[in-house]
Amino acid sequence: MKKKLIALGVLVVVVAVAVIFLATGRGGSDTIKIGVIMSTSGPVSHFGTQCRDAIQLAVDEINARGGVLGKQVQLIVEDDEKNPEKTMNALVKLATKDKVRVVLGALTSDCTLAITQEAQRRGILLFTPTSTNDAVTDAGDLIFRSCFKDSFQGQVMAQFAIENLNATKAAVLYDMNNDYSTGLTKSFEETFVALGGTVVATESYAGGDKDFNAQITKIKAADPDVLFLPDYYNTVSLIINQARNQGLDAIMLGPDGWDELVGQAGEEAVGNYFCNHYSPDADDEDVQEFVRKYRERYGITPNALAALGYDAAYIVLEAIERAGTDDPQVLKEALMETNKKYVTGHITFDESHNPVKSTTILKVVQGPDGRLTTEYVGMVDPE
Ligand code: PHE
Repeated sequence: MKKKLIALGVLVVVVAVAVIFLATGRGGSDTIKIGVIMSTSGPVSHFGTQCRDAIQLAVDEINARGGVLGKQVQLIVEDDEKNPEKTMNALVKLATKDKVRVVLGALTSDCTLAITQEAQRRGILLFTPTSTNDAVTDAGDLIFRSCFKDSFQGQVMAQFAIENLNATKAAVLYDMNNDYSTGLTKSFEETFVALGGTVVATESYAGGDKDFNAQITKIKAADPDVLFLPDYYNTVSLIINQARNQGLDAIMLGPDGWDELVGQAGEEAVGNYFCNHYSPDADDEDVQEFVRKYRERYGITPNALAALGYDAAYIVLEAIERAGTDDPQVLKEALMETNKKYVTGHITFDESHNPVKSTTILKVVQGPDGRLTTEYVGMVDPE
């Protein structure tokens, strides 16, 4: 009898250990490790640092409330400098050395597109807060994002040009080597033409270029009402400056990459419009609470990247709690059940793991202190 009881006791302990092992996937370690790949240095470092800081803010809040599955969440952050090869190195390091099963990142579409297949192949759940290129979630069932897609932004800005600015002639100046820029160009031009407009000039450059005068001369000769600039704030601020110096008076339009433009560009950027994932001025309780907490901790107003990073961390960690594990095969199902309002809007996922959410149109204006800021113009819902 005694022997039987001891045997039973041993069995119970073995089963309990096995359950803990299976549930955590790493033999009962006392933290949940999450990998983060962000461009915290390099040409879009304003984006990357804010996104990383917001992810950390979310994780610290969650840890202060007891963590996830009773464990503290530990972030392992890698900087890819917005270089797709370094994004791949970071993924391999996180997978092999740190043995994470969930990665938040990357920041820009070209970097994320460089690792989606590898993440899927290694069985890692990859969740990008910010990469909008349509193809990002095509690599498989373990790739998710919390931002809208480029086809939506391109379409919204073309429609805005025609319906709100009464434009009939558009020009586009884009980076021919960047997936984000080419994808946006396609959706903007297709919608502009479908709605009856004419694309009078399409000019391109290569990433890293700093002189756009030759292209601007050609665009000026075509006399467009609007000029679409699908690129990030650093390049766009140079283009706007050179365009205005040449006397091009078209209204300029852009995508989410323009966020931070107000901190970079001069007065010549005033009067142009872009779409974004949120407005820090929105009259919404969740937005205002997030803005207050972020300002309190980091001393600046969070940009859209920060809001998306904060949401991504909450969406993924809440799904791990629901799933009872960070095993990607179980977690992906829990993620698909997401149905809740976050800072950047209400999130549900479609069958391709893309959220269905609205975009905010913002105008670049001069604030009372003379500095550039954005003014909320309106919201556009997906059809
Ligand atoms: N959407 C951009 C990309 O895919 C990144 C970005 C997100 C830029 C949010 C600004 C704001 O590359």
